[in-house]
Amino acid sequence: NSEGSRGPVAQVFRGTFIHSTAQTALQVLEDALLGVDTAGKIAFIGKGETVLELSQKFGFNPSEVIKLAQHEFFMPGMIDTHIHASQYSYAGTALDMPLLQWLSTYTFPVESHFKDLEFARKVYTQVVKRTLRNGTTTACYFATIHTDSSLLLGQIANDFGQRALVGKVCMDRNDSVEHYRETVQESVDETHRFIKELLNKKYPLVKPVVTPRFAPSCTEALLKQLGTIAKNNNLHIQSHISENLDELKLVKELFPDSETYTDVYHKFNLLTDKTIMAHGCHLSDKELTVFRETGTSLSHCPNSNISLCSGILDARNVLNHKVKLGLGTDVAGGYSSSILDAVRRTLDASKVLTIQNPEHKNLTFEEVFRLATLGGSQALSLDDKIGNFEVGKDFDALRINVAARGGPIDLVQCEAPKILLEKFLNLGDDRNIVEVFVAGRKVVPCADLTVE
Ligand code: GUN
Ligand code: FE
Repeated sequence: NSEGSRGPVAQVFRGTFIHSTAQTALQVLEDALLGVDTAGKIAFIGKGETVLELSQKFGFNPSEVIKLAQHEFFMPGMIDTHIHASQYSYAGTALDMPLLQWLSTYTFPVESHFKDLEFARKVYTQVVKRTLRNGTTTACYFATIHTDSSLLLGQIANDFGQRALVGKVCMDRNDSVEHYRETVQESVDETHRFIKELLNKKYPLVKPVVTPRFAPSCTEALLKQLGTIAKNNNLHIQSHISENLDELKLVKELFPDSETYTDVYHKFNLLTDKTIMAHGCHLSDKELTVFRETGTSLSHCPNSNISLCSGILDARNVLNHKVKLGLGTDVAGGYSSSILDAVRRTLDASKVLTIQNPEHKNLTFEEVFRLATLGGSQALSLDDKIGNFEVGKDFDALRINVAARGGPIDLVQCEAPKILLEKFLNLGDDRNIVEVFVAGRKVVPCADLTVE
């Protein structure tokens, strides 16, 4: 199962590789060899052939093969499909109100501080470093309405080597915090400037995303223009939908002509195969069908949904509707920046639905593993590039040592890879994530770059 090389092989690893494919949620390759080329792409993944055979075919030195230890394995880097970089400073606090009050009491006042570039630099550096350590190789970020600090977030992700989608937030409706609002024209002009300046930097791993905050923060005039900008530039779009029942009521009041919340976005061409919508706890089956038909994906953010008492997404139903689904931390509505936490909350939320209705078929850990990796890549329309260990994809990977010294997991005996993965997903933390690779480049433990 090794295929033709794409260029000189630069690194070769030998050991256990665990990933998901479209067909199987969990594929374990034991004692396999994986080669990464000089461009950071997977050149081959071989099992069965000898090291000598592979080294002759792909031209590497067998003595330079890096061998994993017994309790180690490689898995694809995890993908956080929804995180507010600008809310990291108050993560772990302020979870005592429902969504709309929470936004005006805590979120908008904090986000308004990102006008200050030095404050932004501090927080954005922290969040990029922390999420990388936690195994997030790709993050889909919301910044704030401020173009220059949003550009700085892109620069920081690039400098630390994290793959990122970055959105300058757009909002022309907000009565709660003075100055934390744009006019339609400002929002449109600054979105153009953000896209142009970010693309001009030619960061290889960072892309701009058109980011209407959510329908209640935007007028129809703004939504319309943002739909056009995304279309004309073939860009990703991100927003929030159907998170909380008061929000649904507000959307009905603000957009009386739209039949559903989904219709509001659909009407303005904001539902595309490059759109990722967070939450969707209260979407109807009919709305999910529109997601499916337009190729729109959902980001499941269970920590946030529980912390803000928003609702519980029926992830099984989303999958049954064949809607692309990834996991999100939704910092700071979700208090943890770790996508491993999102894995656990996803399992818990799904099991709560089974407690309430024994007929419910809750997600398995294998399925949730897929959501954190391949599912995320599909949700962000990056599955041609990342998400698993297929030849030709970028090597975005985590080297996991389940028995890491000083770590949270004790092993009594040698365990099968599937058990090791299950232990890591349920009990592990950053101490078990001993190396993080993005596009073939090791970014942890050596990501302590100086950010200019
Ligand atoms: N809806 C609109 N803005 C936000 C936000 O910042 N966080 C969450 N969880 N929901 C939102
Ligand atoms: Fe959010």
